[in-house]
Parts: sequence; C-alpha cells; structure tokens
Amino acid sequence: MIVQNRMAICSTRQIADNIIEMVLTGNLVNEIASPGQFVHIRVTDTFEPLLRRPISIASFDKVKEQMTLIFRAEGRGTQLLAAKQIDAEVDVLGPLGNGFSADNSVKGETALLIGGGIGVPPLYQLSKELTAKGVKCVHILGFQSAAAVFYEEEFAALGETRIVTADGSAGEQGFVTDSLARNPVDFTTYYTCGPTPMLHAVQQAFHDKQGFLSFEQRMGCGIGACFACVCETQTGQDMPYVKVCSDGPVFPAGVVAI
Ligand code: FES
Repeated sequence: MIVQNRMAICSTRQIADNIIEMVLTGNLVNEIASPGQFVHIRVTDTFEPLLRRPISIASFDKVKEQMTLIFRAEGRGTQLLAAKQIDAEVDVLGPLGNGFSADNSVKGETALLIGGGIGVPPLYQLSKELTAKGVKCVHILGFQSAAAVFYEEEFAALGETRIVTADGSAGEQGFVTDSLARNPVDFTTYYTCGPTPMLHAVQQAFHDKQGFLSFEQRMGCGIGACFACVCETQTGQDMPYVKVCSDGPVFPAGVVAI
C-alpha cells in the first residue's frame, strides 16, 4: 500500500562525490514489498521546488522501521535534501513502483547483478535477499571514476564484486559490458539498473538469458497519473507503452524498447 509518511532522518553522510546515504525511519518501511521500489520525497514544506524527488531504496530493515536511501545531490531538490540534518523530518510518499523479485532465482543458482552509477543502490537489497536464500551473487558495478565509487565493501561482503570505471582510476577500465566480455560469468539470471545505454548494452549482450532491468526515467507524479515517465514497448507487447513509475521501474528483458 502506498502511504504518505513524515519520516525522520537517523543518519546522513556523503559516501562518494555528490553521493549521499541517508537513513530514514517511519512506518512506511513496513509497506516495502520488494528491492528496487522507490520513494517520492518532498524536500521542503514550502512546495518549492514543487515536485517531489524520486529516490530509490538501497536497503530496508522492517524490525527497526528504517530504510537507507542513496542519491546523487546534483539538482536543487536533491541538494536541499542532502543539506538536511539528523532528526529533521521529510514528507515521503511510497513505496512506489514494482521492484525486483528474488523469486526469479533459486537456491544454488548464480545471479549476475550489474549496476551503473546511481543505479547501483537498488541492487544492494536485492543481493541481500538473493544471498539469504542461497543464490550466489556476482556484482559488476560501473562508475565514472574512483571518486564516484561507493558500497564496494558492502557488496563484497555478499559476493564477488568487480568495480569498473570509465577512466580506469579504480578497478577495471571501461564499461561493465567490457569487463564481462573479458571475464565472462556463468549465470542463470541477470538483474541490472543504471543509465539506458548501459541497460541496452547488457540486454544485447545477454539476449539469450532471463533478465530484469530497472529503468531510470524523469518523473512527475510517481503514481501513474501524469504520463511524464512513459516509454514505448518493443513490438509484440500487449501495450504500446508503459509507465516507468507504476508499471516498473523493473521490467523483464525485452519489454521496453531501448
Ligand atoms: Fe507520472 Fe509516471 S511519473 S505517470
């Protein structure tokens, strides 16, 4: 169920260049159904900026009623959010969208988790859920440079983790697909989140595999009402378009035209 909740900030810290990790507490956490869902946050009480900001959930703990958000503070709204201090409250709408399902992998299989930049966070909760049920996770995490890298240790604690940077300043040089071409991984299902060109390259590289892609898209309402996030589907699908906010953001490979 989608709820609107005033949530308190338990901790906030910068974990990479312009990247903030923020832990919030509130009973909205009890409604989270799957990794890859997101929340929509009003960053001020003055309706300026007017629109909420969509932010993906990196992990959650229902016992503590806490969720961890990771976001890039680059626009006015996210910079205002990043400036907030511990104990401040924010107005949160969520959880929104349909996330990844850990049910798509079974115990003993290997899952390949591929993230790019600010698409990395939702894969963390997914990896926690997959590894908890006995799925071996291999993580390929792409960033622009060493200064942009975050959560390397957290992912490494769950399984093999490769860092790939565009400029080669950390880990391997190139794109995530370059790394996978050089050192292939034997897996059953892939899960990926990141910029559309990366999703496109991953889907092409693994066209014969089961895969699930989480899309990053500009959003307005976040609840399926404004059509700001519409994407065309590939030919042969039931619907000519989908809304990333309410039909996604996670779709099986082959659904969205990219
Ligand atoms: Fe409004 Fe998706 S953001 S319909």
